[in-house]
Amino acid sequence: MIIAVDGPAASGKGTLARKIAGHYGLPYLDTGSLYRATARDLLAAGHDLENVCEAVRAAQNIDPATLDDPKLREPGIGEAASLVAPIPQVRAELLAYQRRFCEGGKGAVLDGRDIGTVVCPDADVKLFIKADTSVRARRRFVELTANGLTITQAQVLADLQKRDERDRSRDSSPLVKAHDAHLLDTTNLDIESSYKAAIELIERAYGDGGKTD
Ligand code: CDP
Repeated sequence: MIIAVDGPAASGKGTLARKIAGHYGLPYLDTGSLYRATARDLLAAGHDLENVCEAVRAAQNIDPATLDDPKLREPGIGEAASLVAPIPQVRAELLAYQRRFCEGGKGAVLDGRDIGTVVCPDADVKLFIKADTSVRARRRFVELTANGLTITQAQVLADLQKRDERDRSRDSSPLVKAHDAHLLDTTNLDIESSYKAAIELIERAYGDGGKTD
C-alpha cells in the first residue's frame, strides 16, 4: 500500500505520515528532507542557490545517512529548500530517489508537496492536510523554540506565508491537492485526533479501493 500525504508547511503532515507508517509497518520518507539536504549541501559547498549545475549535483549525491540531521529543520534551510525546489532538474533527480524508495517493497508512506500529483499519482490513498495559517505558525514556533531557537511567532508566520506562496505558485510540481486526495483539516485537531481521523480516512478509502473522495 502506497500512502501519499501532502500539504503546506507545518500542517502536521510529517508527524501524521510518520505515525501512519508506524501503524501499518511501512517505510516512511520525509521528502522535504531531500530538498532541505540538497540546499544544505549546496550552501555548505559554497555555491549559490541559483547554481543549477551544482544544485543538481547536490541532489544526485544526497547521503541518506544525513537526512535526520537536526540542522535540516532550521528555518533558513527550509527557506533555501523552497528556492532550489522549483528547479526542474533538481526535482527530476529527487523524483528518481523517491520512486526508488517506493519500489520493490510492500509499500511506503511519503509526505511532501507533490506526492499525490507527481511522485505517486497511483497511490492507494492520498491525504491532503491543511490547517489555518495562524495555527501552523503557532505549531512551528513551538517546535523551533523547543529546539532552542530564538525566533518570534511573527517571524515564523512571515516565513511560512512566503514559503507557501512560493510552493503554490511555481511552475514545476506546485503544491496543489490531487483531485482524488482526501482533505483533512487539522486546525482544531491535536496530534492524536488528527491521527485517528487519518486512519479512518485511509481505512474507508482503502476498503473502497483507495479511490473514493
Ligand atoms: O516541514 P515543512 O512542511 O515546513 O517543509 P518540508 O516538507 O521539509 O519542505 C521544505 C521545502 O521543500 C518546501 O517548502 C518545498 O519548497 C520543498 N518540497 C517540495 O518542493 N516538494 C516536496 N515533495 C517536499 C518539499
